[in-house]
Amino acid sequence: MSLITLVFSHSIHIVRSALSTQITSAARAGALLCLLGFVSNPGYSEEVLLGDPSLTAGVPGRGPISMSEIETWLDDERNFVELTPQLPLGLSQGSSQITGLDENPLTRAKIELGRQLYFDTRLSVDSTVSCASCHDPSMGYTAQTKTGIGIKGQAGGRNSPVSFNRILSDKQFWDGRAESLEAQAIGPIENPIEMGFTHDGVVKRLSSIPVYAKQFEKIFGSVTIDAVGKAIAAFERVIVTAPSPYDYNEQWRAFKNLEPEDLEDDPELAELYADAAAGVKAHPMNESAKRGREIFFTEKGNCSACHVGANLADEKYHNIGVGMDKEGHDIGRHAISENDIDTGAFKTPTIRNVSLTAPYMHDGSVATLEEVVEWYDKGGHPHKHLSTKIKPLNLNDQEETDLVEFMKACTSPTPTVETSRLPADA
Ligand code: HEC
Ligand code: HEC
Repeated sequence: MSLITLVFSHSIHIVRSALSTQITSAARAGALLCLLGFVSNPGYSEEVLLGDPSLTAGVPGRGPISMSEIETWLDDERNFVELTPQLPLGLSQGSSQITGLDENPLTRAKIELGRQLYFDTRLSVDSTVSCASCHDPSMGYTAQTKTGIGIKGQAGGRNSPVSFNRILSDKQFWDGRAESLEAQAIGPIENPIEMGFTHDGVVKRLSSIPVYAKQFEKIFGSVTIDAVGKAIAAFERVIVTAPSPYDYNEQWRAFKNLEPEDLEDDPELAELYADAAAGVKAHPMNESAKRGREIFFTEKGNCSACHVGANLADEKYHNIGVGMDKEGHDIGRHAISENDIDTGAFKTPTIRNVSLTAPYMHDGSVATLEEVVEWYDKGGHPHKHLSTKIKPLNLNDQEETDLVEFMKACTSPTPTVETSRLPADA
C-alpha cells in the first residue's frame, strides 16, 4: 500500500466513524429505546443530536405558560430522561472536549426551564433586561453594540461574546474568570451595569411566580441561585452551530482523491461518499474561501495557531495588541492569573458565525472582518506582551479578501428557539 493510500484510508476511516456516530447511532438508540419501551423510564439515557429543534421549542401551547400546561409538562417522564448529546458534523470533532455534564446532566425539563430564564427580563431588577438583550439569537447570540448595554442604558466595558457552542468551552468570560458555565450564568444578574439585581432578590422573585416555583421544585427541589445557574447553563449547552460550508468542505476533502472503482465493492463507503458529495453541493464554499482556508491553516496567515479545534478557538489567552495603545487599558487575563505575560491577553473567540457578530474584539473596537484581517496583516499593535505568534503577514488584497471569505464560510444556523413563551405572572 502506498503512503498516499494509507493516509487516505486513514482519513476515510475517521469520516466513517464520525458519520456513523452522528447520523445513525442517535437514531438507532432512539429507535431501540422506543422498541424496548424504555423511553418513559428516567433511569435510561437518550442520545440526541444537538440542534434538534424539539429541545428548544418550549412547553407546547401559546401565550404565557399556564399552571396546568406546566403540570402536564412536568408529569411527562420523557422530560426527565438524561440526554447524551451528539454534536453535529464539524463540531463533533470536539466531542472529547464536552464539559459540565457530569455535574449538571441535561434533561428536557431543565433545558426548557433554562430557556425561559434566558429570555425573561424579570431576572433584572427593573424587568427590562434579559440574557438575550446582549446575547440575542437574531444577532448571532451577541448584541450589535460596541459593549454590553444593561439596565437604564448603562454601557459596560467589554463587547458581548457569543453564548453558543458553550458545550465545548470550559472557563467563561474574555478573561476566563468564571470557572464554569453555571458560575458564569449567575454573574450578570448581580452585575450593577447589566441586570442590577441581587441573587436573593431574583430567588424571591422567581419563587413568587408559581409556574417557575413549580418547575424548580420538581427539577431541583427548590428555587436557589445555583439551580438558576444550572438551568441556564443546560439551555446554553444545547445551542450549537449546525454544519457550515466549511464543515461540508472538510468532510469532502477526505474523499477528494477517491477513484470510482474504490467505491465499487464497498456500499457503505459509497453511501458516505454520496453524503459528502451532496453536502458540498448543497452548501458550497466558493474558490476564494477555499484559498482563504489555506491561508488560515498554514503559516501564511497562522490563524490556526490560536483559532483551532472544533470550535476554532483554543480556549487560551493571548495578547494580540487590541486596545493596548490606550492609557489605562484593560489588563485582561492578568487580573485573574496575576501573571505578567497575561497582561492584555484575552480568550480566543470562535470563528464560527463571526460574520454575524460585529463589532469585534474584547472592546468592540473593530467594526468589520476586513478590518480584523488588516489588523493581523500589520502584525497587531506593538506591546511588551504581544503574543510571539502575531507578526506582520504581508498579504495582498486578494489574500485578505480570501481570508474574509473563508470566515464567512464558517457561518451556519443555530437551532430554532422559542423566545417569547414565558411563565405567566401569577
Ligand atoms: C448587559 C449585557 C449583558 C447581559 C444582560 C448578559 N450578558 Fe453575558 N456577557 C456580556 C459581556 C459584555 C460579556 C463579556 C464580559 C467579560 O468578559 O468580562 C458576557 C459574557 C458572557 C458569557 C461568556 C462567553 C465566553 O466566551 O466566555 C456567557 C456564556 C454569557 N455572557 C451568557 C449570559 C447569560 C446566560 C446571561 C443572563 C443571565 C447574560 N450573559 C447576560 C454581556 C451581557
Ligand atoms: C496569538 C493567537 C491568535 C492568532 C494567531 C490569531 N488570533 Fe484571532 N483572536 C485571538 C484573540 C485572543 C482574539 C481576541 C483579542 C481581543 O479581543 O483582544 C482574537 C480575535 C479575532 C477575531 C474577532 C472575533 C470576535 O468575536 O470578536 C477574528 C475575526 C479573528 N481573531 C480572526 C483571526 C484571523 C483571520 C487570524 C489569522 C490572520 C487570527 N485571528 C489569528 C487570537 C489569535
